[in-house]
Amino acid sequence: MASIELKSVEKWYGEAQVIKGVDLSIEEGEFIIFVGPSGCGKSTLLRMIAGLEETSRGQIIIADKDATAEPPARRGLAMVFQSYALYPHMSVRENMGFSLKAAGVPKTDMDAKVDEAARVLKLEPLLDRRPKDLSGGQRQRVAIGRSIVRDPTAFLFDEPLSNLDAALRVEMRYEIAKLHQSLKSTMIYVTHDQVEAMTLADRIVVLEAGRVSQVGSPRELYENPGNLFVAQFIGSPKMNVFPANTPELRLPTPLPPNAAHFGIRPEHITLGAPGSGQIDGTVDVLEYLGADTYVIADCGSAGKLTIRGHGETSLAPGQSVSLAFEDGKTHLFDEAGLALRY
Ligand SMILES: Nc1ncnc2c1ncn2[C@@H]1O[C@H](COP(=O)(O)OP(=O)(O)OP(=O)(O)O)[C@@H](O)[C@H]1O
Ligand SMILES: [Mg+2]
Repeated sequence: MASIELKSVEKWYGEAQVIKGVDLSIEEGEFIIFVGPSGCGKSTLLRMIAGLEETSRGQIIIADKDATAEPPARRGLAMVFQSYALYPHMSVRENMGFSLKAAGVPKTDMDAKVDEAARVLKLEPLLDRRPKDLSGGQRQRVAIGRSIVRDPTAFLFDEPLSNLDAALRVEMRYEIAKLHQSLKSTMIYVTHDQVEAMTLADRIVVLEAGRVSQVGSPRELYENPGNLFVAQFIGSPKMNVFPANTPELRLPTPLPPNAAHFGIRPEHITLGAPGSGQIDGTVDVLEYLGADTYVIADCGSAGKLTIRGHGETSLAPGQSVSLAFEDGKTHLFDEAGLALRY
């Protein structure tokens, strides 16, 4: 039983089609992440599921009921935004209980729900404070708490952590992972952050210009990207891609005739003496990051390739090197960008 199902969903703004026929089946309890470049339709799709945007065509099924025409309040979903508008004059407890109070839930039930949400989110010591006396991360937790009390069928998050600094993001990422473990609710989460997507998702939905480019577990997308777009979108630094017919390439076996693009991730290349690997190059730039050093090598007609090496390196710009590709880690794509199995 799928908890949320999108059937050929489309969104048109006048003549402009923004969501171009999306089919997606989300299981109960799944953590689904939408990623994709800015403007590809992530927020629009999430808002259509929430009922905040009308669906132009297709169907949205929530808990086996057609919810396409239902208003947001009747869908049983909770949405957490990047800007968590809390009521400044209300305490944390009042902010969290507000929607229940408005719905006429008796005070004892309301208090029990707020206490339970505060326990899950570790907000118990802060229940009497006002939002202005909280840190950004604490405010974001209150915003999540406000949605938990309503026992939603699913949580929808639109870049909930993007206003937080790097350290707080890491902390909140952990909190959200724990929250999903304890609530076991369906979650749909939009992010720009590779690490959030890879670490939190059961499945990642990669969107490209209003279409689903590929859906899969983080590992499936990383190991077997179905096309060039996903190959270069998932993984950081991104996959190196160059023409399959690059004359300097020395491969042990010939490539299939329909191979147009050759891909190899920076972490699947090791550097050796000139002539030892599959392609030679010259070190152009070294990017030292502590644990790793990214080596950018100029490889003639293959262009600039990135190699992920150890932090400690004795390489220097201008040095001649050879790049060896790890067995079984190369990717091939046809002219249209579709992955080839070989
Ligand atoms: N009211 C509107 N009228 C016309 N076009 C719109 C409207 N709202 C959004 N769009 C367009 O729809 C497309 C998708 O927008 P959306 O906000 O879903 O993108 P996104 O993937 O969430 O991007 P970002 O990562 O920048 O948040 C964009 O091209 C945007 O300009
Ligand atoms: Mg958006």
